[in-house]
Amino acid sequence: MNYQRPKGTNDILPGESEKWQFIEETARLLFGDYQYQEIRTPIFEHYEVIARSVGDTTDIVSKEMYDFYDKGDRHVTLRPEGTAPIVRSYVENKLFGPEFKKPYKVYYTGPMFRYERPQKGRLRQFHQIGVEAFGSENPSLDVETMVMAMDFFKQLGIRHIRLVINTLGDKETRANYRHALIDYLESHEAALSEDSKRRLHENPLRVLDSKDKKDQPIVQGAPSILDYLTDTANTHFETVKKTLDHLGVAYEIDHRMVRGLDYYNHTIFEIMSDAPGMGAQTTICGGGRYDGLVEELGGPAIPGVGFAMGIERILLTLDQEGVIVPSAVNLDAYVVGIGEATNMEVLKIVQAIRGFGYSADRDFMQRKTKAQFKSADKQGAQLVLTLGEDELSQGKINVKSMKSHKEKTFSLEELYQDFNEIYDEMLTFIIE
Ligand code: HAM
Repeated sequence: MNYQRPKGTNDILPGESEKWQFIEETARLLFGDYQYQEIRTPIFEHYEVIARSVGDTTDIVSKEMYDFYDKGDRHVTLRPEGTAPIVRSYVENKLFGPEFKKPYKVYYTGPMFRYERPQKGRLRQFHQIGVEAFGSENPSLDVETMVMAMDFFKQLGIRHIRLVINTLGDKETRANYRHALIDYLESHEAALSEDSKRRLHENPLRVLDSKDKKDQPIVQGAPSILDYLTDTANTHFETVKKTLDHLGVAYEIDHRMVRGLDYYNHTIFEIMSDAPGMGAQTTICGGGRYDGLVEELGGPAIPGVGFAMGIERILLTLDQEGVIVPSAVNLDAYVVGIGEATNMEVLKIVQAIRGFGYSADRDFMQRKTKAQFKSADKQGAQLVLTLGEDELSQGKINVKSMKSHKEKTFSLEELYQDFNEIYDEMLTFIIE
């Protein structure tokens, strides 16, 4: 019997979930400023959608898919990433139509699934926040996308990050480079890992992305794609670099970076964390252009660019950098009830306070008066209202401000009619 969570998954408990909300809320606000709107697609997709987009020879598709046949014998898979599903949705819902804004900008957040070997920063169910922008080939959009991701990390208070870029060029670039790469890899074939031997002819770019130690020295000596760029590809990459320079954004070029998904062309980028203690998984964001993908999934020839970042890795980075995430938990009023007879009225009072738009809490565990005051204190209540049986029979309630220690008795009628006024009276002079 196994009553534990599946390997490589996490429970996100209260205390931790506030940090998730903070990250997601920061993304929502920032991406909104850049005119991105939220999109939500299913957690599972037809296998073909992912295999076709991400690529059959990638680790993601060939080794890591949570795919299965459903009861109707359809081959489906939990989504391993967000781009392919969103392109599928973009095509299916004809979001390229004239009635939609161009570029069409969407963001998403949610769980993704990859059957990987779990380790620090690498899970089987992990969470991404990502964006996709469709309909423009302008290199300025590549840069806006990267800068937005950098902006996001800055807003969270993350400092030790690096932007690393590369280009995969256009089709012609890749065809030329493919030949050169195959020639080079063939001369080292015997020393390559089994996976790489297989990929050498199918998809040699994947060899550059190999995590196998055997392949590393060979990859180090591989020819650079930057020597094979066509004029068009070179111009695009030069413009991206110039634009980053113009905006004063620091970056590094890594001509060996290929990313683990097949749909990219032109600009690709990753943001790495240099915070100590991150472990081996330091890539907190990855993205790039995928100009052929919409067409690949049956749509018109419309370019796209985007990125995704791993929430778990962002949390690790925040931790390692010592960033304190502001706590969203707050309590305006705690109502202490003394004596069994106040039970019903206390509920009516907290409901009334909530009705005025404040947060309120009370005891449900038959705690003694002293313990109730302790709870109020522990929860950081601004006001503590106390209702004893005598007060109840007189229609009164005692209100104490925990900030100023000011104390006053109000009638219950006043409270029910206008709690705002009581709240203001008890707390305003702190503001003054
Ligand atoms: P990716 O590089 O596969 O790209 O994933 C993006 C980010 O998701 C990674 O940089 C990492 O932070 C996080 N991530 C990936 N796998 C795991 C895992 N097993 N555990 C924890 N975190 C993980 C994509 O998924 C593309 N769809 C990005 C993109 C969007 N490109 C264009 N648009």
